[in-house]
Amino acid sequence: MTKRESRTAGQSETRDYVAKMYYQDQQIAESYDYARSRDLSTVRWALDRRALRRCFEDVPASSPVLDIACGTGRVTLELIKQGFKVVGTDISAAMLLVARQQLRPVPPLVLADAERLPFREGTFRAATARSLIGNLPPEVRTRVLRAAGLVADLVIVDHTIRTRLGDLRRRVLRRRRSPRPSNYPWAVVSEAELAAQLDEAGLVERRRVYRLPGLSDAVWLVLERH
Ligand SMILES: C[S@@+](CC[C@H](N)C(=O)[O-])C[C@H]1O[C@@H](n2cnc3c(N)ncnc32)[C@H](O)[C@@H]1O
Repeated sequence: MTKRESRTAGQSETRDYVAKMYYQDQQIAESYDYARSRDLSTVRWALDRRALRRCFEDVPASSPVLDIACGTGRVTLELIKQGFKVVGTDISAAMLLVARQQLRPVPPLVLADAERLPFREGTFRAATARSLIGNLPPEVRTRVLRAAGLVADLVIVDHTIRTRLGDLRRRVLRRRRSPRPSNYPWAVVSEAELAAQLDEAGLVERRRVYRLPGLSDAVWLVLERH
């Protein structure tokens, strides 16, 4: 836990972790898409789009879908193109402003913390969150997964599950230029940690889609309630 995170006695609240604060800055929000329009980021985005499409094969066309931590709306737009009725939500007003400026037509965009989603139980057929789960402190990760599982039948998230090859790849790529600061963590979990986390969140894995089978340990998980 960083210095900026604290737990209120008797109440599980984690404040001001990096992922929550970083994108509040308007300049960072405005440069988000541009910073990811080069090099490995574009490859990663193409592979993620493919994986997302495969995960959403389980979701009937026109279903209501929630894009949690939608940021500038890249995933939101992909899902709209696939014919879903998408609502985007994010904790950063700056990121939502960029999404509002560039998405046409503008879908419903809601400012909210993923831990406390302002929707009724079962409102959505699916809820997805890209590039969020691994950035959250473990206890927040569990609360976010649980909140998503309450408002949606299926929860579709990207995660990284530790393998030897993945560890080696990370060591080799460590020095590559990243659009994010070095104190911005991305968790790599073991299968056992993942199973425990899902259990705590009241979710089970239905299936998984690897971003790059055999080469990458980045995985998209399709989850449902116990
Ligand atoms: C790396 S960006 C990903 C944006 C988008 N999903 C994408 O793939 O381009 C992470 C996003 O998570 C949002 N975020 C971080 N913590 C959050 C929280 N607790 N609730 C909702 N959104 C959060 C940030 O504001 C930011 O927009």
